[in-house]
Amino acid sequence: MPVETTRVAIIGAGPAGLLLGWALRRAGIDAIIVENRSVDYILARVRAGVLEQGSVDTLKRLGLGDGVTSAGLIHDGIYLQFAGERHHVDFNELVGRTVTVYGQQAVVADLVHAHAADGSTIYFESSDVAVHDIETKSPRVTFTHDGEQHELHADIIVGADGFHGVCRPAIPADHLTVYERTYPYAWLGILATVPPSTDELIYCLHDDGFAMHSMRSLQVSRLYLQVDPSESIDNWSDARIWEALHTRLGVPGWTLHEGEVTEKSITPMRSFVASTLQYGSLFLAGDAGHIVPPTGAKGLNSAIADVTMLADALIAHYADDDTALRGYSAAALARQWRIQQFSQWMTQMLHRHPGTTDQHDFDYRSQLGQLDYTTGSTHAMRSLAEQYTGLPL
Ligand code: FAD
Ligand code: DHB
Repeated sequence: MPVETTRVAIIGAGPAGLLLGWALRRAGIDAIIVENRSVDYILARVRAGVLEQGSVDTLKRLGLGDGVTSAGLIHDGIYLQFAGERHHVDFNELVGRTVTVYGQQAVVADLVHAHAADGSTIYFESSDVAVHDIETKSPRVTFTHDGEQHELHADIIVGADGFHGVCRPAIPADHLTVYERTYPYAWLGILATVPPSTDELIYCLHDDGFAMHSMRSLQVSRLYLQVDPSESIDNWSDARIWEALHTRLGVPGWTLHEGEVTEKSITPMRSFVASTLQYGSLFLAGDAGHIVPPTGAKGLNSAIADVTMLADALIAHYADDDTALRGYSAAALARQWRIQQFSQWMTQMLHRHPGTTDQHDFDYRSQLGQLDYTTGSTHAMRSLAEQYTGLPL
């Protein structure tokens, strides 16, 4: 059985795991990544699309800025649409900051290529991944790779294995509380080969539900529709999706251009926070520790923020200063709760709550009032701008 030793064993090669591995490698700290999917699978996974300014700065600082500099689309703001009218919120004017549209897929591809060029060890397609002895200073990871059982000894294990991973559940139940909220709606997302019909993202509340127009490049559009979480994608033909998008996003004098749909899927929405991101030698980062509903575009950015903090803390730890590592869980969770609040606020404001009771009618009208205030008050717009473009670490 191959037995290896590393300083930091990272479980998961999503954006959190890949970025942490890369940051540690650049600092001369040995790390090995164990991932259960194939490299082709992770390169094909379409997810988030908006990077906060701080996330772009992190990528550039770590020598990963070429792709985002050449292909990222800098947006000064967003549009909020409701009651048939579209309103621009100009972040750059309000807080002097912007966001960059650059897909998670591109971030992951940049990281995979950087690791490959640098000779990093990443065990893709590993099965039976398990962590052991995490309460001690000599934790281990076991997994099967190419039909062989492996054992990896480390100082520290980082669970960057997403919401469904094995690391968070390895924390004993009496040391972990989870705070969770589900929503009575989901997002149906498509990628379409057609130039975006808008210069910046449109977030829209319509009588029929939420809709959003985003993009991946000047040639590829990304669009979303609020649907019932029990919906099957099989019930949504391309024609039905475009019809719903026209209805919800349409405003007089504007045309939504259709194109070939190359990807479509339905994503459930959830808010979730673990009470701790550390147990013994195990640290959690990204979706392994927390999930937000996608409306505020914070999932990927939170993963990058966690890893930025954790990488700095581990670098200090190996330089004999443990203060930041001991404070990582509390600092990352304090920031995360502010992000949870923002994501929940955006989600609640922009989605139609299903049902036809007086309470739902009241909620809908109250949401319209909230949007009216948010787009009409400079103070409210500045607060939105400050949070959407990214809170400081
Ligand atoms: P992940 O990207 O989930 O990476 C975890 C990695 O761990 C994966 O590669 C997984 O294969 C691997 N793994 C899991 N279990 C194991 C195991 N047992 N052993 C080894 N490896 C394991 N956010 C937005 O802001 N906007 C969006 O539009 C948006 N869309 C999304 C759509 C979907 C379907 C999902 C699931 C998430 C979406 N998100 C979105 C959230 C955003 O993509 C995540 O916040 C982000 O991917 C978090 O990165 P991560 O590295 O922490 O986790
Ligand atoms: C995208 C996803 C989001 O969740 C969001 O808030 C904005 C954009 C996107 O996939 O482009």
